[in-house]
Parts: sequence; C-alpha cells; structure tokens
Amino acid sequence: MTPIQESIINKKITNKPIWLMRQAGRYLPEFRKIRKLNPNFINLCLNEDLSTKITLQPLKRFKLDAAIIFSDILMIPYGLNQEVKFKKNFGPELGFLNLEKISNVDKLDFLKTLNPIYKSIKKVKENTLTNNKDVIGFVGAPWTLLVYMINKCSPKKKLIKNFFKDKFLINKILIILEEFIKIHIEQQIKNGATIIQIFDSWAGLLEEKNLSNYVYEPTLNLVNYVRSLNVPVICFPRGVKNYKNFCEIVKPDVINIDYNVDPISISKEILIPIQGGLDPKVLLSDKENLKKEVLKYLNIFKDHPYIFNLGHGVMPETDPMKVDYLVKLVKDY
Ligand code: CP3
Repeated sequence: MTPIQESIINKKITNKPIWLMRQAGRYLPEFRKIRKLNPNFINLCLNEDLSTKITLQPLKRFKLDAAIIFSDILMIPYGLNQEVKFKKNFGPELGFLNLEKISNVDKLDFLKTLNPIYKSIKKVKENTLTNNKDVIGFVGAPWTLLVYMINKCSPKKKLIKNFFKDKFLINKILIILEEFIKIHIEQQIKNGATIIQIFDSWAGLLEEKNLSNYVYEPTLNLVNYVRSLNVPVICFPRGVKNYKNFCEIVKPDVINIDYNVDPISISKEILIPIQGGLDPKVLLSDKENLKKEVLKYLNIFKDHPYIFNLGHGVMPETDPMKVDYLVKLVKDY
C-alpha cells in the first residue's frame, strides 16, 4: 500500500506522507522553461507529453509521495465550450456563458476534448517515478466552477452583486456541472488516478445559510460517487469556517485545511485523516522559521493520520531549495 493510502485507509499515524498543491508549477525553472515556449496554458494542459513531463518534474527533485496531474479545474468549463483564457498577471478569464450551448454539449465531444488529460494520467501512472506512490486526479467542486463560469474571473473578496439573481440559470448549470464533473472523475480513475481531490476554492465566499445548497449537497453527491468507484476522496473547501460541520455532513475520506484555521482545535475536533494547513508564505521565510512552522504542524498532528501539505498552493516566488528542505524535514521526522 502507498504511504498516503496507509494514512487514509489504515489510519496509520506513524508515517507522515507529503505532497504539495501546485508542486508542479512556476516556482520550478524547468517548468518556466516549458511554459515560456507554450504561451497558451490550455493547450499546454492538453499536450499529453508535456503535461506528463511537467507532472513528473517535482518527483524527480523531491521525495514526494504523490504526483498531481498537471491540469486545471477550469478544463471542465473549457470542455463545456465556454471560452477560457489565462492572462499573464491576471489569472483566468472566461467568455460569455451561453446556457443553450453548454446544455447541448455531447458527452463524447467533451471526452474527446479532454482526452489528452486522461492519456497523461495513464503515462504518469505507468512511469516508474510513481511506483508505490499515488496519482492524484482532481476536479473543481460545482460551487467553485459556477463562480468562475458566472463571474468570468477569480472573485476578489466577495461575489459580484446580483450573483444569485438568475436562479434558473444557476440551477441548470449546477445540474450540468454535476454530470460532467462525474464523467471527468470517472475517466481520471479509469486511467490510473488513485485518489481524487475536490477543490472548492471559493467555499469561503458563501454565507452560512447558503452552504448547504451550494457546497454540502453538491459535494456530498460527488464524494458518494468517488466512493462508489472505490477510490478515496480528499475535500478542500477552502475558507469554510466550520470544517467540523463540513466533515460531519460531507464525510470525505480526508479533509484538507487552509492556513486560517487553528490546527490545534482541528486536531481535537476532527477524527478523520487530515491534510495540509501550512501557510505557503512560510516557504518564503528563512530556514529557521520554516523548520519551526513545519514541526509545529507535525507535532500537533503526531497522533493523527496526517498527510503533510500546504494550506494553498506553492507560490511562484518560492525557492525550490526551500521545498527540498521542507520535504526532508517531514521525511526525517
Ligand atoms: O500542481 C498542481 O497542483 C496541479 C495542477 C493544478 C493547477 N491548477 C495548475 C495551474 C491544480 C490542482 C489547479 C487547481 C486550480 N486551478 C484551482 C484550485 C486550487 C486553488 O488554487 O485554489 C483553481 C482555483 C484554479 C484556477 C486557476 N488556474 C487560477 C486562479 C489560476 C491563476 C492563478 C495562478 O496561480 O496563476 C490558474 C493557473 C494555473 N493553474 C497555473 C498552474 C500551474 C499557473 C499558470 C501559469 O503558468 O501561468
């Protein structure tokens, strides 16, 4: 069994496996080199040889316990024929949302568009670098994808006014998203993904009273679906204030926490395996502080099944040497 599966399935507490969100990305010079030659991010995600190569880059450098496939949560809106562009120093920008167009997307066309992602997962799984390691497939949760599809770019701190005005549109999109997210999950698993992580990056924008409708219920459906395919599922409802409530209702196999919650209370309140938490900014500080913070998380979760990770993705400014140091600290614990 892989070290991560030992934590999740056997609830082993003596090993502390590690992987990092955005472990493949701009902080690595070997990624930047490929990126420079490939200005179109979507095309890069759909280039099976390059996306395989990028996925494996961090595994060549560091003793990580999982590969996460180099892709993006916005590949689903793209597969549904909404225009998606990534602009330098701005982030994603989506095009006009045509309900009729996305309602008529054929499953086979969607699969054809996203097929390079599945091929890339297969190649990563077959590569010896992932022997006895997990291959993590992922999706955006319906709520977070809905936010991008309606808002057309990353929301800053709150939703646009009138976000919920067109309930008919919202409900239609949520139904379509559920269907296609499941298709995307199924294909990733069929091609070798051994774990699925559900990213709900904008869960924190919702008021408590709306969580049930937009976060708990749609995510619970997906968690049950992944489980029916016999693969563990990790949820990351970023910014949700009450992780305990989330776990009780959605019941994921693992919960990834962000860096705004207190890890001590989390370790007392939540009994299921926990992942993440460390503020990615800590990787920008000196080694001494990095060590202190890493040991803090390891000590707090020493009697808990715990998968080391961050509370959000590795930042582009990070020195790869610091990542190397972090991985060694966790492995030597
Ligand atoms: O290494 C990995 O974690 C796997 C690959 C991965 C990417 N995006 C690659 C990427 C994963 C798991 C994602 C998930 C994702 N994408 C999320 C959920 C996690 C989170 O960050 O909250 C979200 C919200 C997105 C949407 C998205 N994609 C944004 C907001 C941006 C721009 C911000 C940024 O960091 O540039 C992206 C672009 C993106 N996705 C990059 C990478 C490596 C950077 C693209 C570049 O090279 O310019």
